Amino acid sequence: MSISNVRELPVGVFDSGVGGLTVVREIMRQMPNERIVYFGDTARVPYGSKSKETITRFSEQIMRFLLSQNVKAIVVACNTASAYALPTLEQECPVPIIGVMKPGARTATEKTRNGRIGVIGTNATVSSGIYTSYIKELMPEAEVLGRACPLFVPLVEEGLWEDPVTDEIARRYLTELMDEGIDTLILGCTHYPLIRKTIARTVGESVELVNPAYETALELKHMLGDLDLLAKEHPSLASTAFM
Ligand code: DGL
Repeated sequence: MSISNVRELPVGVFDSGVGGLTVVREIMRQMPNERIVYFGDTARVPYGSKSKETITRFSEQIMRFLLSQNVKAIVVACNTASAYALPTLEQECPVPIIGVMKPGARTATEKTRNGRIGVIGTNATVSSGIYTSYIKELMPEAEVLGRACPLFVPLVEEGLWEDPVTDEIARRYLTELMDEGIDTLILGCTHYPLIRKTIARTVGESVELVNPAYETALELKHMLGDLDLLAKEHPSLASTAFM
């Protein structure tokens, strides 16, 4: 296949459910010419309470499915899968593949003023300690405070984005982190930007929220640009051309 044909192939994006659509939204904003194949594993969500082996096996299956759709690159738009499965996927994947955690960690170190960074995510993401390692590589003096928020994912999947129940759960999860004096909070689960307003209301204006989706889309853009793989044609024109 010629390079110009490869450029017009879609980008594969996956998550355990609907959360990865927050990353898709950013990709579409920053790269409107790209076509996207999205896989949300709503049959097996949540991943956050599953073992590393299970998360890796599910992620490998999805990677193979996306490759069967002829994608030119893959975005693991799930923090939990990025935390546990990305190193394995990187070894097996014949096309470029990126996760969401490094971009999120980098943004948090750029935004913090007092070096106290909160990370919220699934049980698996927070207990992996991977955000902490990435942040410390960039800012060894940073204090990273993690808090798992397992009920946020089912609340989002149920569509309770603006609901008193979500407000109450957010207060219970986030009060402790606020008491620790964080000034920056990484939304370390792709579902959380969908309840960003609730989280922002709860932590107040003095805490800056970091949504890794934006930086991930930017990293994808740079990577495709460096490889000369950015799509040139708008998707609607591309599909018309193939008809
Ligand atoms: N949205 C996923 C993440 O970014 C995880 C949600 C889940 O399946 O538990 O971590």
